[in-house]
This record gives sequence, C-alpha cells and structure tokens, in this order.
Amino acid sequence: MSEKILVSVAWPYCNGDMHIGHIAGAYLPADIFARYHRLRGNDVLMVSGSDTHGTPITVRAEEEGITPREVVDRYHPRNTETLRRLGISFDLFTETDTENHWAVTQDLFKTHLEHGYVYRDSMKQLYCVDCARWLADRYVEGTCPFCASEAARGDQCDNCGRIYDAIELGSPRCGYCGGAHIEIRTTEHFFLDLARLNDPLLAWLDDGNKEHWRPNVINATRARLESRELRSRPITRDIQWGVPIPLPGYDDKRIYVWYDAVIGYLAASKEWAVLTGDPAVWRAWWQNPEARAYYFIGKDNIEFHTIIWPGMLIGYDESLNLPYDVPANEYLNVEGRKLSKSRRWMIVMRDALDRYDPDPWRYALAASLPESQDVNFTWDEFVRRNNEELVSTWGNLANRVLGFAYKRFDGRVPEPGELDADDRALLGQVAPTFERVTASLDAVKLKAALGEVMALAREANRYLNLKEPWQQIKVDPAAAATSIYVALRVIDSLKTLFAPFLPFTSQQLHEYLGYDGQLFGRLYIEEVTETGRRHLVLRYDGSDACCGWAPSELTPGQALRQPRPLYVKLEPTVVDEEIERMAAG
Ligand code: MF3
Ligand code: ZN
Repeated sequence: MSEKILVSVAWPYCNGDMHIGHIAGAYLPADIFARYHRLRGNDVLMVSGSDTHGTPITVRAEEEGITPREVVDRYHPRNTETLRRLGISFDLFTETDTENHWAVTQDLFKTHLEHGYVYRDSMKQLYCVDCARWLADRYVEGTCPFCASEAARGDQCDNCGRIYDAIELGSPRCGYCGGAHIEIRTTEHFFLDLARLNDPLLAWLDDGNKEHWRPNVINATRARLESRELRSRPITRDIQWGVPIPLPGYDDKRIYVWYDAVIGYLAASKEWAVLTGDPAVWRAWWQNPEARAYYFIGKDNIEFHTIIWPGMLIGYDESLNLPYDVPANEYLNVEGRKLSKSRRWMIVMRDALDRYDPDPWRYALAASLPESQDVNFTWDEFVRRNNEELVSTWGNLANRVLGFAYKRFDGRVPEPGELDADDRALLGQVAPTFERVTASLDAVKLKAALGEVMALAREANRYLNLKEPWQQIKVDPAAAATSIYVALRVIDSLKTLFAPFLPFTSQQLHEYLGYDGQLFGRLYIEEVTETGRRHLVLRYDGSDACCGWAPSELTPGQALRQPRPLYVKLEPTVVDEEIERMAAG
C-alpha cells in the first residue's frame, strides 16, 4: 500500500540568494527524504515557496529604494533556479504573494475570527516619534527580556532564540534613525488566542505518538506547553506589505508574516492540486489520518511549527492533519564561523553550483547535516570527501568494474559461475544494508543512512581487492566473470541506495548499467497565471519514474553502456582559493 507523505519545507525569505546553510538545514534533507519515499512507491507531496512578506523583504526594499515586489521579482526566480539545479524535487515551490495564498490565508483568518481563536484588541506598540512610524519587529533593536543580550531584534533574540513582543525589549533603538526617542503607543490589532490552544496542544503532544521526535524539538515544545504560559500574539501589523485583512476598515494594516507564512504549506498544497487538474486532491495528504506530515525546518523555527502552526490548524479545521514529525536541524557554520552576508562570510548556493557539480555538493552537505548539533563545514573536508569518498571509494569502484566489464566481457553483464563464500558474503550484505538504511531514513537519520551506504561501498572495494578480477581473468576467466557479476550486482544496489542522496550520478550509473528509464521524475520551472498576476513555480513530474527501493536483480547478459567517470577529483589548492573567495565577499 502506498503511503501519503507530506514533505513541508521552511519558506525561505525572498530577500537574497540561498546559501549552503539553508540547503543543509532544510532543503537537502527534505529532498533526500522525499526521493527515498518516491523510490519506495509512496505518494509524496513536497511543498514550499518564497516567503515574500516581513521585514527581511521590506528592509531590503528600502535599502535599495525599490518596492518589496521588485525584491521578490529578483530573488524568487534565482532561488527557484538554484533549487532546480540542485535537484530539490519540489512538487511545488511557489511564493506567498499570490492570489491563492491570500485567499487561503484570509480564509483561515476569517474562520479563526468566527471560532473566536482570533479576536480584536488594542495593543501597545513602539513608535518612533522622530520618524513618525510604528516600529515593528526588525525595525527595532534592544536588550532581550530573557537572556539580556544587547543586540536582540524586535521579534526574536538571536542569542537565546526566544520570541516576544517588541515592547518587552529593554532600551529600544529605532531601526530607521537609530534614535531612542521611542514611545509606547496604543493601536488596534487582531490576536491569535494561543492561551486557549495551550491545553489542546498539550493533549496532542501527549498522544503517545511523539517518541520519534528529535530530543531538542520535543524538549523545547514540551517546556513551552507545560509552562502553560502561552499568550495571545498579535497577527496583524501597521504596515503596507503583506496579506490584506479581509474586513472593511483595515486598509492601513496587514496580516503579520508569521501568521501567513506557515499557512503556505496548506495554500501550496491547494495550489498544486489545482495545477494537477484535480483541485480536491490535496485532501489526500491533509485529511487522511493515515497520511504523515513532516516539516523540515531550522531550529529557530521550531516553536512556529510545533506550537503556533498546529494551534492554528486546531482552531481552523479539526479534520486537518497536525505535524507527524518536525525534524528540525541545527546550523551549518563554515570554517568555524556563522554564515553572514554582512560579515562577508558566505557561500551562495548558485555560485557554488557554478564551480562544482550538484551531487558532490549534495554528498558533502548530506555527510555533514546538522541533525543534532551545529556542524562546521570546511573546504578541506569538502575536498577530502569529494576525493576520498566520492571519487576513490564510490566513483572508482563503479567505474573500474563497469569499464572492465564493458571492455572484457563484450559490453555485457557477465554470466556468473558458482558463487564462493566471499561472493556470498558480499551479496549477503546487501539486504541487511537496505534494512538498516531504510530504518535510518524512516527515522529521518539521513547522515547515518548515508554512512551505511558508504560502508557497503567500502566492503565492495575490499571484495575487489581480494578477488582482483583484472588478475583473475588471465588465469581463470570464469572466476573473473563471477567476481565482476557480483560486483556489478552490488554496484547496482548501491546505485539505488545512493539515489536519494546522489540523484544525478545515480541516473548516469543506471544508464551505464544498461537500464532505460528514469529513477526519478523531471523538475521544471513554469509560469502560473492567476487572474491578476503571474508567478514562477518549480514543479516535479514523477509520472515516468521507473524504479523501486530494492536490492539489485541485475540479469546476466544485459547490455552495458560505455561508462564515464561519475566524479572529478579536486585539486587541494581549491581549499585556499575558496577561503579567499569567501573573505573577499
Ligand atoms: N521565512 C521564515 C524564515 O526563514 C519562515 C520559514 S518557515 C514558515 O525563518 F513556514 F514559516 F514559512
Ligand atoms: Zn527613528
């Protein structure tokens, strides 16, 4: 029975190019997981899009003297293209400034209002008297009310990660003029009644189906809910850029980015359904109790996905699925430092793809996923992993055996003779490796899964060093045929095991092994036209994908294709060059 797997991925702010930290933190793990499930024959729906709202976008627009929409028009196509080049197989990667997203957001807003989960109230907010402007979120800086860090932003502290209201900040400073002539004034807004959702959320957390959650995610969520300190949060702002409030009289206010961004998961699922021509099909992932929803996010977003979004869903429509798992990642640092554009320490993914192929990037990042703690990426490690693991251990294994078979066995998979103990020992490791890799992937332990796959590649190398078919063939061609057959079978299995991690080179290898057809579907960018506007989307079409998740059944006699090396060795000089490039900004 195929299962319905919803793969929801954090919506990246559309105010710049995505960097390798974004990719390792959410997009790559989500893609590995999605591709694995597709190979298993499960029905995956993987969605996300550009988060076009919020101060990250408006700050950028103001800095450059352009409109927020112009910022989106610049970065959304670039990031969409980067995701396509890296093979991040979104069924739909869209954006939040669309009619569909507005409509779904406004529907939640009105329903929450009807159900009493959203209510109107006045609130105190910071106002810069010199600028004559309301100061929301990132337009104000001050001292964190929780950890006393002095560079805390208005909505969240970078140091301790807690979220709060800007009026709680100590010694606030205006983000426009830098001044401290700031008053607390009263303004009317809409509030999400999280206090009322505290008990229902706690009941959900205690439903006995959270054992698989990562410790940091469950602990942070439990602490928040058990403290019973959830308070109402304003979900509108005195701003002009955002989803309009669907009630008369609020033209000078907009819905706050954090309320609409998480709704994107549902909105994008609905948009995807319309694009497929079956507008109701999203329900199979959202209203089917057997479906599982995974949310791939960074650690700074945990509370929004384990408390606020589930709370919003409970308050909207009880029939919608809550998250099954929220495998949040920690951060990827580079050469011991936090990635930061302003501090000139950056690896922009699209530039990185101009210089190195997608699979080496996917491999290096997958081998260093920050699944349970921050990880330090180094260029030295990148080159080492490429040269020692991808080129020597895996690529050369595949290439040596395929090249030899192609040349010496007439371009075909040789007919094996009787298998000896060594042959059986190697082949006997394939099924248990599949079991272990499957268990790790199911548990979203992707780094461990990749390690298991590489371990089998090492075993295959050991086997070849033992058998030396290139020597065997001189004295006992039949024995060489058996060794090459066994090695090809294992390589074919490794192709499948590596495929979620290395989709491009696994497809190449699939063809060298003589198969036709595609391991996965095709990714393409398309323009969607709504009544009032157009936007670009990334889409995945899996209709012609052919293959499953099972040990190889390679048949003797199958015609091979002339192989070429899958990976290229990097010069050690790359390390210094790349570090210099980063520092040069
Ligand atoms: N754009 C926000 C961020 O990057 C939110 C991402 S997740 C979402 O932190 F679901 F809320 F969109
Ligand atoms: Zn000011």
